[in-house]
Amino acid sequence: MNTTTDTIISRRAAAIKPSSTLAITARVRAMKAEGHDIIGFGAGEPDFTTPDPVCEAAVNAIRAGMTRYVPVPGIPEARAAVAQKLRAENAIDCEPDQIIISNGGKFSLYLAIQAIIDPGDEVIMPTPAWVSYQPMVELAGGNIVEVPTTAESGFLAAPEDFAAAITPRTRAVILNSPSNPCGTMYDPDAIRAICDVLSSHDRITLISDEIYERLVYGGREHLSPASLPSMSGKTITINGLSKAFAATGWRVGYACAPASIVKAMSKLQSQMTSSVASFTLPALVTALESCSEEVDRMRGAFERRAALMEQRVSVWPGVTCPPPMGAFYVFPDVSSAFGRTSAGGRTISDAGSFAESLLEEAGVAVVPGDDFLGCGPNHVRLSFALDEASIEDGCSRTGDWLGRLT
Ligand SMILES: Cc1ncc(COP(=O)(O)O)c(C=O)c1O
Repeated sequence: MNTTTDTIISRRAAAIKPSSTLAITARVRAMKAEGHDIIGFGAGEPDFTTPDPVCEAAVNAIRAGMTRYVPVPGIPEARAAVAQKLRAENAIDCEPDQIIISNGGKFSLYLAIQAIIDPGDEVIMPTPAWVSYQPMVELAGGNIVEVPTTAESGFLAAPEDFAAAITPRTRAVILNSPSNPCGTMYDPDAIRAICDVLSSHDRITLISDEIYERLVYGGREHLSPASLPSMSGKTITINGLSKAFAATGWRVGYACAPASIVKAMSKLQSQMTSSVASFTLPALVTALESCSEEVDRMRGAFERRAALMEQRVSVWPGVTCPPPMGAFYVFPDVSSAFGRTSAGGRTISDAGSFAESLLEEAGVAVVPGDDFLGCGPNHVRLSFALDEASIEDGCSRTGDWLGRLT
């Protein structure tokens, strides 16, 4: 860093790492634009387009003049539609005043953390964990307490691991099921057992990031912690349009929390973004009320891709990987490649050099796992949000590349 940058950029901004997953997506986009033949397993976004009725609802709203400021947490119809969805699909007993709609699940999470975390508070999270939790907690002055998990357990933490991590400073636990980056999820009994531990601690709020809730495979069931009576008054549930409705660019997410927390989040949102774009709110209502079939169709495609991915990765020489259960990621251990040399003469020493060499030599983009909190250098993340032919192509390129390591 040069002196000028040192003096003009705040310590807070300087300390934050840019989102590595968005950086890889941008790099793949740029390489493709230059004419390179790249298979991108990097992007954390569905390759489908947003369902037509959702797009039409937004266009109609714009044409009808819905282009002005709207209430900070969202128009009443949209908050009611979210509350209705959470009651009907997630068994969460909630009212519209417990809902706030924000610019993506990401900003919902940011507001939730800003609303409840004071400097010095501890936030427990199982790791490996999604890239953005740590910067968000640190921007609030909080300290992360990791609960490390292993591939052998499917990257799932046990209730006693949470119990052991709790201290008098613990203010929140972040749970992300199904998980990015691991592609695994907690079954309902595991959620109940974890909540049994948390419910006896008055000061602890659970932040349950359920952005991948609709994308679960093999007949698995997602249980929302806030549906448990002991947790309903101490859980912030996060969700949004991005993943289930193939709407990452719309930036529409929401949170459901006790009304006092939603009020605090609203106050913060009023000073930061005011609200989401007004015309996305009727589109959110349409998505939640009338697009279940489209979501099921996309989920079915992801389920087929998950099976294909599992099968193709299982034949890569030396690579091990828990089977995907939800979201659209696999998180294989590639450490058997470390210490070896690629056909292009590169030494593979960690997930970063693995990903770099694979991209340069085979045209396959993956995300090094060490960008995810608590992962260590052994894993890479592959997203299967791309068509089956590309999955086949990318997996055979990777298998061939691995087979030529010496
Ligand atoms: C685990 C997790 N939570 C939250 C988000 C935020 O999604 P969005 O802001 O697009 O709603 C993402 C996006 O990648 C994610 O992977």
